[in-house]
Amino acid sequence: MTFKSTLAGAAIAVATLLTGTASAQTIGFSQVGSEGDWRPAFSANMQESAKEYGVDLKFANAQGKQEEQLRAVRAFIAQGVDAIIIAPVVVTGWDQVLKEAKEAKIPVFLVDRDVDVTDKSLYVSRISADFNLEGKMAGEWLADASKGSCKIVELQGTTGSAPAIERKKGFETAISKFPNMQIVATQSGEFTTEGGKKVMEAFIKSTDNLKGICASFAHNDNMQLGAIQAMKEAGLKPGKDVLMVSVDYVPAIKDALAKGEANASVELRSAVGKYIYPVILDYLKNPKDLDKWIVIPSAIHTAK
Ligand code: AHR
Repeated sequence: MTFKSTLAGAAIAVATLLTGTASAQTIGFSQVGSEGDWRPAFSANMQESAKEYGVDLKFANAQGKQEEQLRAVRAFIAQGVDAIIIAPVVVTGWDQVLKEAKEAKIPVFLVDRDVDVTDKSLYVSRISADFNLEGKMAGEWLADASKGSCKIVELQGTTGSAPAIERKKGFETAISKFPNMQIVATQSGEFTTEGGKKVMEAFIKSTDNLKGICASFAHNDNMQLGAIQAMKEAGLKPGKDVLMVSVDYVPAIKDALAKGEANASVELRSAVGKYIYPVILDYLKNPKDLDKWIVIPSAIHTAK
């Protein structure tokens, strides 16, 4: 052994002692896209926390396209990453690529959104909030605020995505206990401000300026912010003429709540790297069966 190689060995040993790990784990993360305000905040947190946890994160933004996600996951498999994280755009169409990851012995973790696969062993665990509960919280809040009597317009998220499916279900479960609460119009605004604005403009037209409408339930805050713009442009007073309830609790909806233009928002936490990385790193050290769903808590915030 040369003096040089002894020195190099000693340096690695000291670094290992300092960091507690010989080399960073490489994790590929296929993210949905950058729609709205919540998603970029979530991406930024995943990237910042990767550094804190000593993870070498390969980040791929799918720009809302599932084909891009499938391509990214296959590229991660080809690179031989230690684990793969997916926030799936939609619930269907995952079986084949997840089988490929399993055959390559690369564990897959779902974050945020869910997949619909019959073989649950294709992924280790999903670490996310409970979208159904979020919808339920929004519905229960509205039942209380409207005393159980309300005609509702609904702005849905991306068709086929877990939050659109589950938030709708949870909300409908909550209002189904009140015979005088009904969703009278529903349409997808794709989780974007522009989409929400367009959908609300259509609702304003089809209901003669929201006549008889008591509430707007939006599957995310950005669509609700677009709806608020559309209503103000039509001379309506969001938050007063119509109750406004949505999900995410992003900074812009906090401002709207403070101004009285929104009434309630269910918080979807975006700083969730602290929940996700410890689970994955622990699993990589000591692979074992985990709960199929590790739930991140939700809370509702209302205008003071
Ligand atoms: O999957 C979570 C949802 O996706 C967020 O509520 C929404 O803002 C985002 O687009």
